[in-house]
Amino acid sequence: MRKKVTVIGAGNVGASCAVRLADQELADVVLVDVVEGVPQGKALDIMQSGPVQGVDVRLVGANDYEPTANSDIVIVTAGFPRKPGMSRDDLLWANYDIVKTTVEQAVKYSPNAILIVVTNPLDAMCHVALKVSGFSKNRVIGMAGILDTARFRTFIAEALEVSFEDVFTLVLGGHGDTMVPLVRYSSVGGIPITDLLDAETIQRLVQRTRDGGAEIVRYLKTGSAYYAPSAAAVQMAEAILKDKKRVLPCSAYLEGEYGIRDLFVGVPVKLGARGIEKIYEVKLSEEELAALHKSAAAVKELVDVMAPKLAEVEAARAAS
Ligand code: NAI
Ligand code: 2OP
Repeated sequence: MRKKVTVIGAGNVGASCAVRLADQELADVVLVDVVEGVPQGKALDIMQSGPVQGVDVRLVGANDYEPTANSDIVIVTAGFPRKPGMSRDDLLWANYDIVKTTVEQAVKYSPNAILIVVTNPLDAMCHVALKVSGFSKNRVIGMAGILDTARFRTFIAEALEVSFEDVFTLVLGGHGDTMVPLVRYSSVGGIPITDLLDAETIQRLVQRTRDGGAEIVRYLKTGSAYYAPSAAAVQMAEAILKDKKRVLPCSAYLEGEYGIRDLFVGVPVKLGARGIEKIYEVKLSEEELAALHKSAAAVKELVDVMAPKLAEVEAARAAS
């Protein structure tokens, strides 16, 4: 049977996800947005690239959720992007309402779907999606780590003038200024980067990775990155649709792993048909673990602010 992916939000990230899903012939796509005409127009436009690209997928645009029924995956990109000078956390309340409403609608029509959350502040929005949907934790996954590791990989490959493909990195933690690029787990063709680059250069690349989103916001001025983010979200969708069992860094709900409880934080996971099929606990030094806990504490601050509203959401869901 053909696979079906709903992308909520037909803006920069959402439309780019739809293009990538179509180009890779991964699934039929339903693109949903509040703006009338935009998802319909973009879906039609992308579908008309099918004959040229030689791919056979159907795309539909909508302002309601009926056409999304029985989706295998729902990618949530609806929400405001940040502007220069804003942190991802500044988007909390504006995007809380959007994620709550859109997830409520989407899961009504697709109760068996897997949710991939993209909207910022990422880890906090995953929390909203988990509580609103009532889904099991393996079916709510945040996209951030693949993007952050891709940025670190890009900078290392540029510095060494080597292929991106041979660079492996690992970035843990929340998708924010406190993310934790793990130098000890970064290598090029199996060679530790500490053997290839001096400490000062590595620290510069680590900081550029942490600032990777802001660097693009400064250039674009009116929005944030979307080409690499959409590539990352679609890589996750592909791993799930094809049951690939890929090991990728994603935001996952932790219940004691790394000494972190009841929070979404970026960690390596196995992604397959059931969503998150395993969470890997890599061995960390005291310093690395402290940095991860600091990052989790930053996520917790946002979750704590939302706690009263989330308690209402859970109570309403339990009563329904
Ligand atoms: P955008 O402004 O281009 O698109 C957002 C779309 O959401 C707009 O078309 C808007 O009409 C739509 N929308 C707003 N409320 C809606 C609702 N209730 N229902 C359906 N659609 C609704 O923004 P962009 O660049 O696509 O970014 C989207 C979100 O993704 C932002 O919050 C951004 O910060 C986040 N993001 C997260 C990344 C990550 O690594 N997790 C990477 C890139 C972006
Ligand atoms: C990024 O890192 C905006 O979170 C997004 O580019």
